[in-house]
Amino acid sequence: MSSKKNSEVLNIVAVSGGLNTPSKTESLIQNILDELADATNIKVHFIKLSQIGHLLGGAIYRHQLPQSVQDDLAKIEAADALIVGTPVYRASFTGLFKHLFDFVEQTALVDVPVLLAASGGSERHALVLEHQLRPLFSFFQAQTLPIGVYATDKDFTPEYTVKSEELKARITLAVARALPILEWAPAKGLREEQSKKKSEQANENLGINKQIEQDEVLPSISVPDLNAAESRIHKKKKSVA
Ligand SMILES: Cc1cc2nc3c(=O)[nH]c(=O)nc-3n(C[C@H](O)[C@H](O)[C@H](O)COP(=O)(O)O)c2cc1C
Repeated sequence: MSSKKNSEVLNIVAVSGGLNTPSKTESLIQNILDELADATNIKVHFIKLSQIGHLLGGAIYRHQLPQSVQDDLAKIEAADALIVGTPVYRASFTGLFKHLFDFVEQTALVDVPVLLAASGGSERHALVLEHQLRPLFSFFQAQTLPIGVYATDKDFTPEYTVKSEELKARITLAVARALPILEWAPAKGLREEQSKKKSEQANENLGINKQIEQDEVLPSISVPDLNAAESRIHKKKKSVA
């Protein structure tokens, strides 16, 4: 990939739904991170369900989670961009991957770029990216990136390093297509401060079915001021009338 151009540091949070150690999914995500780090300046926090899955247990509310998991959730909410991956389990993400995202504050990921990845035993489940992962992040109004990365068991060596040239090329393509979107994002590093209060409130009292009020949505990357955007629409309507 090209040499690093942008001096600002992107705050990337990676989440793997893999439960095994070692894990093909973790290896896949690490390869994507390495490719991204080669091209631009990033700071990475990598959350592995293989390490924290047992801490989620039967928790329904965030305050029932250990502080370390609450901190991971705050990092997800503060990320400039997410790289998420999961093994395919029964044609979907792992239950614990979904359980972690069930705790994420509903408005915190609006317009956040998300690169989708998955690993499965079968090529026939490649569309898990489109019919399982993409709808989940659409719920969050996140900006799912157009190119996702899917790997199967045969793309890896027995030590779980990526061996297939096709998969390496796909990772390069996904990162190349992600870069302009990630580097354009003016929110670099700023979301951390903005999302702090939201994460603290969510730790105290997030109801899982909470109704989203539009004015609770954080200023997003592409629409920093929703009122200004709306008044432009109304002005246009008035001038047409
Ligand atoms: C409980 C379970 C269910 C699985 N279901 C599927 C499936 O529906 N489709 C598929 O392609 N692979 C399936 N697999 C295979 C895994 O997705 C695949 O081996 C994956 O790469 C494992 O990732 P990991 O090394 O990160 O755990 C399943 C594996 C397990 C353990």
